[in-house]
Amino acid sequence: MPSSEKIMQVDLFLDEREKAAVNESLDARWLTEGPNCAKLQKMIAEQLGAKHVFFAPNGTLGLFLALLTLDLPRGSEIIIPTFTFYGSATAAVFAGLKPVFVDADPDTFQSTARAIRAAITPATRAIMPVHIFGQVCEIAEIMEVAREHNLLVVEDAAQALTIRYRGKAAGTFGDIGVFSMFSDKLATMGEGGVLVTDNDKLAERLRLLRNQGRPNAGTFIHPSLGMNFRITDLQAAIGCVQLTKLEAIKAGRARRWNRYMDGLKGVGDLRFMSVTDGSELVAFRFPLLTRKREELSAFLESAGIQCRGCFYPMHLQPELRVEPPANLPVAESLFEQGILLPLHHHISDANIDHVVAKVREFFGANN
Ligand SMILES: Cc1ncc(COP(=O)(O)O)c(C=O)c1O
Repeated sequence: MPSSEKIMQVDLFLDEREKAAVNESLDARWLTEGPNCAKLQKMIAEQLGAKHVFFAPNGTLGLFLALLTLDLPRGSEIIIPTFTFYGSATAAVFAGLKPVFVDADPDTFQSTARAIRAAITPATRAIMPVHIFGQVCEIAEIMEVAREHNLLVVEDAAQALTIRYRGKAAGTFGDIGVFSMFSDKLATMGEGGVLVTDNDKLAERLRLLRNQGRPNAGTFIHPSLGMNFRITDLQAAIGCVQLTKLEAIKAGRARRWNRYMDGLKGVGDLRFMSVTDGSELVAFRFPLLTRKREELSAFLESAGIQCRGCFYPMHLQPELRVEPPANLPVAESLFEQGILLPLHHHISDANIDHVVAKVREFFGANN
């Protein structure tokens, strides 16, 4: 590898097909939601097996919109894993809800039914399970807990577009599922959120909320409160092409994951994420755990390998922490020990071998 070439965490899988689609969209002289959005809605509905599909400007606003749609009393408690991206929690706060954080599973790093069940109080109204790092949490078990306690479920499937659990797509288990199409996600349109639901009543409310409180444009009578969560047809043109690449993207990620695993198993004190029984794995970066996180990250960065840490837990975030602080040690140790190695469509076998060799060198392992 030339020393000037840094191995980045994210690199987009874009080519002439996206350019052509954007040009066609410009030629059609229709830039707001239009034919490409309709096409993308249909593609997503078919791929996921979802009845209703809506867009939002990004995943965070998608979660916010989903929670507004539930129409819960202000101050209702919503159970959220503490080991997640900040947007999961802030969406709840801005929707007037009180997040109650629960710990992650130490092996899979995912939300668990057991932790969620233990956090239910008389004020709990909803659960937000989160699927992270390319797999689906034990969502069927979590849905059982939700049904037993009559709780609504918004799945944060931002990282899990088309990833399946026991054959059913992430995001289609709960009342509403939300995906992100941000630049580092499996399929991207730069920014973008997707919401799915099979519930006609929720779909009706969602449609009004995202479209200025009216079923369609063209009238200034707004029967309901609402805002503007629309996206552009240019984005959707890119999104449509990206969806056709998903199978290739997934296959390439599985190969790269296995190559990292084969090279790193048994090296130093490294530990790896395991996969929830019944879940597919479509690698989203390559997470590993080590007690030498800072030293290893600095060593890899100096060798031209961009590293990222894991999520800083929500219960420790300055604006979200409560007194006395919650005791959620798994997420804290995932943060203290977690490193994400780069894994995306443009990472070659030689790149992975270089990263593996550097990690082995750090731990003094024989190459
Ligand atoms: C788990 C999780 N939830 C929510 C989001 C927010 O999505 P967006 O970046 O599209 O707002 C992300 C994005 O990184 C995420 O990883």
